[in-house]
Amino acid sequence: MKYTTRTGNPASIRTDCLVVTPKRAREVARALDVEAFVDHALAQKPKGVAVIPVPTSIKNLMVVHGDDAAEIDDQDFRRRAGSAAQALKNLAARNAVWCLNEIAVAGHDDYWKTRVALGALSDALYWYDEFQSKPAKTPRVSRVGVLAAPGTRTGTALAVKHGQSLDEGMGVARDLANSPPNVCNPTYLADAVSQLADGDAVTVEVLDEERIEELGMGAFMSVTRGSRTPGKLVIAQYRGGAPEDAPVALIGKGVTFDTGGISIKPSAAMDEMKFDMCGAATVTGATVAAVAAGLPINLVTIVAAAENMPGGEASRPGDIVTTMSGQTVEILNTDAEGRLLLCDALTYAERFEPKSVVDVATLTGAMVVALGSHASGLFSNDQDLSDALVAAGQASGDRAWPMPVWREYQRQLKSNFADMANVGNRAAGAITAACFLSRFAGKFKWAHLDVAGTAWRSGGAKGATARPTPLLFQYLLDQASA
Ligand code: BES
Ligand code: ZN
Ligand code: MN
Repeated sequence: MKYTTRTGNPASIRTDCLVVTPKRAREVARALDVEAFVDHALAQKPKGVAVIPVPTSIKNLMVVHGDDAAEIDDQDFRRRAGSAAQALKNLAARNAVWCLNEIAVAGHDDYWKTRVALGALSDALYWYDEFQSKPAKTPRVSRVGVLAAPGTRTGTALAVKHGQSLDEGMGVARDLANSPPNVCNPTYLADAVSQLADGDAVTVEVLDEERIEELGMGAFMSVTRGSRTPGKLVIAQYRGGAPEDAPVALIGKGVTFDTGGISIKPSAAMDEMKFDMCGAATVTGATVAAVAAGLPINLVTIVAAAENMPGGEASRPGDIVTTMSGQTVEILNTDAEGRLLLCDALTYAERFEPKSVVDVATLTGAMVVALGSHASGLFSNDQDLSDALVAAGQASGDRAWPMPVWREYQRQLKSNFADMANVGNRAAGAITAACFLSRFAGKFKWAHLDVAGTAWRSGGAKGATARPTPLLFQYLLDQASA
């Protein structure tokens, strides 16, 4: 998608689709001499989004109904932007001009309105047909201009720059996540991250199993050992800040397919476990966005990539492994593999002396039960970091909600044979998973986002959402201005 800033009189714009309020629609119709026709069409469809083909330099008027005189609230604006973006997806158009910034939204400026619009557009106007032998030939929207009113050009243009960067990051995240698991294996993920390398600004290092073993990552190795495709630990470093600035570290769970291992999963919907690398995909996407926006921060992105398979060398329930931190873990369930990868990646992150560490993982089915698909679960050992991530979620519309990491829950991880077990009992499964990770995050400010409910959609709209890329990018933007 290509976003641009536009100025001038909407009626004199040449476009496949002009997205407007009802009031603006009537003005444009008057100027183009199609007033009676447009009035009639608006009367036919007085609610929601009306698409009116007009035989003029503007091929379609897309009218987003709703009060355009009063100030509306942010949720209402998000809803309108979302419906318009969806309607654009269903329209055979190549380009559009967005004129909804003239709607007044309480407490928000043109920067915000533009970001919301572009976020909705990036979300809706995404196609994945890499593996269709006969992709549809209908035109698709690939360019959207945002009309800036006089005096709002600077804010709108900055939002266009940020929205464009985020669009690129989300596209990378979704393409990776939607790729089939026979293609997107740990090597493929490592190659994808390696493509970010760019001189001294971005360097990427890929650690293979030999190196992972040498580092003492017994937990990581216990997951990847059952698979024919070897695991990788990938580290990308972006240097946009001063050399002495401590980096933010992002860590992503990259299980390219999760069968459960010897504790094998039931077969229903198991295909969706190709999405078990969405943590890796979205930290990569956030990195792409940060680099594209040229944020003045330092960033370390760590992708823990492995495939969780049963096999002759796979871990058994009852196995005890030693993590890089020296702590021992009794693997009671080989399907709780994400935390085994992440614990060693967390220990590895210590060497960067990060100012904060955020790990992202499709970690537990219990998270879906707790928060559904509206918010990602947020766990942290630092109140300020937790607050910053909640705020970034609110600002980006990609919300996260705090969950407790209390000592009381830690008890569920007790093992009779090792320092800890890798699972608790059924109760509070998302929290005990976070408790497990917290034991490897004692040396820095840490947060964990369990995105099992938000990272992809099931059913007819099955596909990756790129969440929490928008939240992460907002957090990085906030770090840049802090
Ligand atoms: N990748 C899954 C979590 C998951 C399951 C996310 C379904 C989204 C939908 C994870 O590796 C897993 O299997 N977790 C187990 C943990 C359990 C064994 C303690 C789970 O949630 O069942
Ligand atoms: Zn998993
Ligand atoms: Mn699992």
